[in-house]
This record gives sequence, structure tokens and C-alpha cells, in this order.
Amino acid sequence: MVEKAKLKNQMSKFIGILTAGGDSPGLNAAIRGIGKTAQGVYDMEVIGFRDGFRGLMENRTIRLEGNTLSGILTQGGTILGTSRDKPHKMMIGGKKVDMTQVIVENYYKHHLDALVCIGGGGTQKNAFHLVEKGLNIITLPKTIDNDVEGTDVTFGFDTALSVAVEAIDRLHSTAHSHHRIIIVEIMGHNTGWLALGAGVSGGADVILIPEIPYDINIIAESILNRQRAGKHFSIVAIAEGAVSKEAHKKIEILSNKIDKTKEDEERKKLKSDLKTFKENAIGNTMQLAKDLEKLTRVESRVTILGHLQRGGVPSAGDRLLATRLGTACTKLISEGKFGIMVAARGEGIEPVPLKDIVGKKKVVPVDHPWVEAARNLGTCLG
Ligand code: F6P
Repeated sequence: MVEKAKLKNQMSKFIGILTAGGDSPGLNAAIRGIGKTAQGVYDMEVIGFRDGFRGLMENRTIRLEGNTLSGILTQGGTILGTSRDKPHKMMIGGKKVDMTQVIVENYYKHHLDALVCIGGGGTQKNAFHLVEKGLNIITLPKTIDNDVEGTDVTFGFDTALSVAVEAIDRLHSTAHSHHRIIIVEIMGHNTGWLALGAGVSGGADVILIPEIPYDINIIAESILNRQRAGKHFSIVAIAEGAVSKEAHKKIEILSNKIDKTKEDEERKKLKSDLKTFKENAIGNTMQLAKDLEKLTRVESRVTILGHLQRGGVPSAGDRLLATRLGTACTKLISEGKFGIMVAARGEGIEPVPLKDIVGKKKVVPVDHPWVEAARNLGTCLG
């Protein structure tokens, strides 16, 4: 290791890459963009850590040389593997253990000059935790949810959007033939970017997103209005995090109570009540279908797209975005810019300080142009 460190100091920079959180189409394009630019333009050496922060903690590496970086542009998933492990709360022997110090030591053991963490909102937070420990960290925003603060868009979103739109297209003909309501549940965690984008692009009749709590009677009425107009089927695009108005109110009340409660035990109990309530009230698409069927007397079916939206070949748009961000990331490393996320800004990129974005989530503004477009088309938003 010492020999290598000497050699490295005389020669090139040594950078590490990891991918963390849910996988997302375009990850391999980003790894390729960082790696090829590092080797071809800046004479840097690149190493990959397997399975996110866990691989860094366990010293599981993969050398990223010419051959490893070739032929991966079109592959879905991540050649490095990923996990949702957090440095400060890693499951070890059934317990959450703070492994930050081990990770910091491993960073130095590998003589890294920089570590690139590619991930969504959670990864930005975990990466910032390592910035605070003095490591040279730079991040890239990826997630199919498109909910990372500070960037115009995240890679993975475009591919997932196409998958969801194709599903809506296909569901139209079967819903039409059987005169049914088909509810299609779309990922997005607590935000509605994917459901809204897919709903508008696929011409869904109802679009339900977490940012606009819904009233089931309004949805039923809009479906009945379609019936009256001779349209005997309806497509409902619902985000997995969508919530009814009543449930939203109850969540607000419980959250306010938690904020005002000082006593630890009482807070713990309220938090667990809130968790249980959310588990039952959010994402219960089967129940929504039953309730809509009762209110409209139109036969209803549910399609949950799930991980299909994350798998497979990345779209051209995601390959381009991931390559732009990846290649720009290496340039920023060569300039010694750390503690930042490489954000997409228009046609270009912008280094955004991690401290400005951690803990924040980019939600759909209720007056967003996509929302306005949907309203102008007469789409019911609940
Ligand atoms: O963050 C990406 C995402 O696909 C969300 O849309 C979804 O809620 C979540 O990950 C699913 O996570 P997992 O793959 O761990 O089930």
C-alpha cells in the first residue's frame, strides 16, 4: 500500500466510485463517463466499490479499467451493485451500527483522492456525512423518482417514464374493450413526478399524486361524467405515495402532535402510530379500486408497475444525461472541487454544494406547468 501511495503521489490521482440506493437506468453510463474521462483525459486511476457504502466498509472492490468500462453503456442496473446501507446505520448482526470510522479508514487505506457517490436523496445525505468527516466527496443525482433537490432532472427518470407511458398505452385498449376502470400504480416514493409525467404523456383520465391529496367522490364523479359522455372506460394513474384528503389531514395532525411532544416515550409511540397509519392509508391501491367500483358501478382492475420501471436498458435521454454528468464530474475532481453534487442545469451542469440540498426533497409544485397542462385537458387530479 505504501509503495502504491508513493507511486500514486508521483503520478496520477486515484478515485473511487460507488452506486447507492435503488438502481436506476443510466448508472453504468455514468460510471463509464467518469471512468473513461478519468483514464483517457486526466490519467487518473479508478476503482469501484461493490454494493454502495457496504462495499466501501467491507473493502470489496472492482478495478475499473478499459475492459470493465467497455460495453456497459447500454446495460441496465449497475455493474458495481448497490444497497440502501447508510455509513452511520449499517445492519450488522441484526443491529444498526455506526460504521463511519471504518469507512473513513478504508478511504485512506485505498489512497483515494476522491470518492464519487452516485445516488438519490438518501445518498446525497450519506455522502454529506462523509464530507463532514473530511473526505473529498462528489456526487451525481440519479433516481427514477426525479425528486433530488438542486438538479433539473435525475437520470433514470426518462427511462422509467417511457416504461410507465407504454404501460398506460397498452392498458387503454384493454380498459376500452372491457369497459373498465384500470388503475395503474406508478413508483415515485413520496413525489408525483413519474405518475404525473406518465399520466399526462399517456393521456390518463385521472392522475393522483402525493402533492395533491384526493377526494374519492370527485374521482368517481369524473368517471361517471365520462360514462355520461359515452366513454365507458377510464385510466387512473396513481403515484404509489398518493394520499386521500382525510388521510392527509390525519397525518398532519399526528405530525404536529409529534412536533409538540417533548417526552421521549410519548414521541416514540406517536411516531409508531404515524408509521402504522401511513402504511395502511398510503399505497392501498386495491382498496381504492374496490371503493371506486362501489361508487361508480364500473368494474375495476389494478396494475402495479413496480420494479419494471427501474429495470432494463436506459433510454437515449438517460444515457446522454448520465454521460454528461459523469464526464463533468471527473473534470470537477481534476479541479479539486469537492463537497458538491454535479447537477443538471439546462443544457449544462452546475456544481451544487451538498450542504444546500441535503435533507430536502424536490416535490411537484401544485402550479407546475405539467399540472396546469393536465387541468387544461380536463384531467381529474382528485
Ligand atoms: O427510489 C426509487 C424507488 O424505485 C421508489 O420509486 C420506490 O418507492 C422505491 O425505490 C422502491 O424501493 P425498493 O427497490 O427498495 O423496493
